[in-house]
Amino acid sequence: TSGPMVDTFGRTTRDLRVSLTDRCNLRCTYCMPAEGLDWLPRSDVLDTAELVRLIGIAVGDLGVTAIRFTGGEPLLRKDLPEIIEAVARLDPRPEMAVTTNGLGLRRHASRLAAAGLDRVNVSLDTLDRDRFAAITRRDRLDDVLDGLAAAREAGLSPVKINAVLSPDGGLDDAPALLRMCLDNGYALRIIEQMPLDAGHTWSRSDMITADMVHERLSREFDLDADPRPRGSAPAETWVVRGHRMPGRDGAMVDARVGIIASVTRPFCGDCDRTRLTADGALRTCLFSTTETDLRGLVRGGADDAEIAMAWRRATWGKLPGHAINDPSFLQPTRPMSAIGG
Ligand code: GTP
Ligand code: 5AD
Ligand code: SF4
Repeated sequence: TSGPMVDTFGRTTRDLRVSLTDRCNLRCTYCMPAEGLDWLPRSDVLDTAELVRLIGIAVGDLGVTAIRFTGGEPLLRKDLPEIIEAVARLDPRPEMAVTTNGLGLRRHASRLAAAGLDRVNVSLDTLDRDRFAAITRRDRLDDVLDGLAAAREAGLSPVKINAVLSPDGGLDDAPALLRMCLDNGYALRIIEQMPLDAGHTWSRSDMITADMVHERLSREFDLDADPRPRGSAPAETWVVRGHRMPGRDGAMVDARVGIIASVTRPFCGDCDRTRLTADGALRTCLFSTTETDLRGLVRGGADDAEIAMAWRRATWGKLPGHAINDPSFLQPTRPMSAIGG
């Protein structure tokens, strides 16, 4: 039962995205209402041992080579260092990254790096303090900027920044974000907003598209198409002419900016991702309409081979891609915060 997981469209799954909690300490308007959501009951959430066991099956039996921890806000999990240490002991050791809002990085970055974390992606949508407070409903911009610096100091590089631009005026945030990233050696990616907000308020006509972002940045920067192959990465990347930044091993490389065109240029045909929610549901796609209850298998006493088989079977049935652009599109009932970005 060991070997890579494939689907009927010929894609191989190598990247596991694990949501560690649906809770968050920000309230981004495009994600959650001010009062938060009905959080998962604690007893529904996978504990450390359950998580590590499932990740171990993905790595050991199913050919997964990269793990991304997401949320909600994954740094709210007190056992995160412990989880990372356990995953770092797996053979073969997977690459590990965290997608975080950055608030906890000053406090936790060095401990996470010591535990074996390779790198972090930090969500940051604007550098304007008032706009940041309006988007996230918390006045914490300085803490995010300080968290970014802490991640870089801890060697969690390349530090990437994810920006979802606000429909009202967010396009004008793009050049300042890129300049800050070039100055600090962070890798900026600007993301098209997808219909995954809890309030179901997404509208296509409000969306800031990848082409709009490229046009806006091109007014101030010379962007060259990236000659490197993209593989299964969501981001299309451009080389920012005349700018260099430290790469993974510290040597200087060309600076790049990424644009994630999830809606206007879907990349589902090359998708290599599978997802585990905090309550132990397997989703083969962000937009899956069905889930596989791995927690039920784990708590029901299934052995590793049975769990691996269920994962493999679900992957075989993975959809060709999202249907955001179909007139009949229905938003998943789980919001982004309960799926993991
Ligand atoms: P690295 O570049 O390797 O760090 O990974 P990444 O880009 O996959 O990581 P990240 O978690 O930062 O994802 C960035 C954004 O890409 C997410 O917030 C999503 O908006 C989008 N994204 C990631 N995976 C998928 C996917 O499978 N489908 C779609 N449609 N969007 C995705
Ligand atoms: N569409 C695209 N990206 C989103 N994120 C949150 N909601 C959405 C959405 N509807 C991003 C966050 C963060 C990552 C976890 O997902 O900005 O970077
Ligand atoms: Fe993969 Fe689904 Fe995302 Fe498309 S929408 S890239 S199939 S997870």
